[in-house]
Amino acid sequence: MKLEFPDIEKFAGLRSLDKAYEIAIDKLKILLDRDGAGNDFLGWIDLPVKMNKSELSDIQETAEIMKTLETVVVIGIGGSYLGSRAVIEALKPEFKNNNTEILFAGHNLSSDYHGELLEYLSNRKFGLIVISKSGTTTEPAVAFRFLYDLLKQKCTPSEIRERIVVITDAQKGALRKLSQEEGFKSFVIDDNIGGRFSVLSPVGLLPIAIANYDIESLIKGAFKGKQDFTRLNTDNPAIRYAGVRNLLYVGGRKLEIMVNYNSRLNYFAEWWKQLYGESEGKDKKGIFPASVSFTTDLHSLGQYIQDGERFLFETLLYVDNTKHNLIIPEWHSNHDSLNYLAGRSMEYVNRKAAQGTTKAHISGNVPNIIIEIPRINEFELGKLIYFFEIACGISAYFLGVNPFDQPGVEEYKKNMFELLGKP
Ligand code: PA5
Repeated sequence: MKLEFPDIEKFAGLRSLDKAYEIAIDKLKILLDRDGAGNDFLGWIDLPVKMNKSELSDIQETAEIMKTLETVVVIGIGGSYLGSRAVIEALKPEFKNNNTEILFAGHNLSSDYHGELLEYLSNRKFGLIVISKSGTTTEPAVAFRFLYDLLKQKCTPSEIRERIVVITDAQKGALRKLSQEEGFKSFVIDDNIGGRFSVLSPVGLLPIAIANYDIESLIKGAFKGKQDFTRLNTDNPAIRYAGVRNLLYVGGRKLEIMVNYNSRLNYFAEWWKQLYGESEGKDKKGIFPASVSFTTDLHSLGQYIQDGERFLFETLLYVDNTKHNLIIPEWHSNHDSLNYLAGRSMEYVNRKAAQGTTKAHISGNVPNIIIEIPRINEFELGKLIYFFEIACGISAYFLGVNPFDQPGVEEYKKNMFELLGKP
């Protein structure tokens, strides 16, 4: 992984950068020593080690059974679905997919979305993975009722047992009780792992394995990430990323835009937004995480980024090698005057667009952090996930907040339950 901050001295003094790194190292030490706020939620740090061969083979065995289905619906919201969706969307073919189809439900309360899903599934051979740590979150609980009822119309009780998997708390919770009563296969979300840090646990790994991606390689990448991103020095990119973004924040940059030039990473940005937004946005502090996909959004949000209010910075996530190499053809007519690019690859043009945009945005007073990964595969994604998780812990401690709680999420629930007349 490459990490660069071009022209950073324009935005932050180099001496203050050294100070920021010093603080970041100190915060990483607190995280690793388990001395900081929320230290009973640090189980995710060890997931690359905990997810050993036997844990993975249990997940894989269940995945093999579910893979015989045409469609598997992952029911969950927030940290219970964003991680698996990010990895699957980054890896799956855009237009034709011969693997088991993975769909998502219970991540909103849209009747149209769920109504159409039920119609679509009515003549598909489908199964369900219900993921909720608490087991009582309204959105997935509502979706599960509809989907379970549909399954009951189509399958015998023993078929249903083959088609429903529950991932929830070890002891507590409505779903644990249900899975015991109905005899569903279940996996545990450990008490010490919060939803948004759970992608490397069965929460993320089971859907990814059913989609036919290599979870062993994902965990190997995370393991490498654990080695690289827990080092207490400035060679560690997680230290530098956390240090720089906090320095920019102190200097008035309140919004961070994750930029990609490969739309496969759009859901990765959604996962990152939840990780950072829910971990840092508290006590009236925190960088607001947003995302764009370029060059698409250069034709919509590009104007604002170049020229609008100056309270933002960008973090560009660039993929060095693409799977496809498309060479631009030469046309005799040259009616579009594009022959000067004939023989060049599409990715060459994409990269020049990225370089040109970064230069323009920096000169428009938008600091840029550039992260480059060699390619999109399971190993690199596992490593990248671990990078952003560790950097998130460091960053939130830098900011002075507890990264592992989410008290603000309860406010809307309180009002909603009151309006719904929840007993
Ligand atoms: O990161 C988190 O803790 C949250 O986003 C939860 O994952 C989300 O609220 C879903 O909660 P639960 O798994 O209890 O249904």
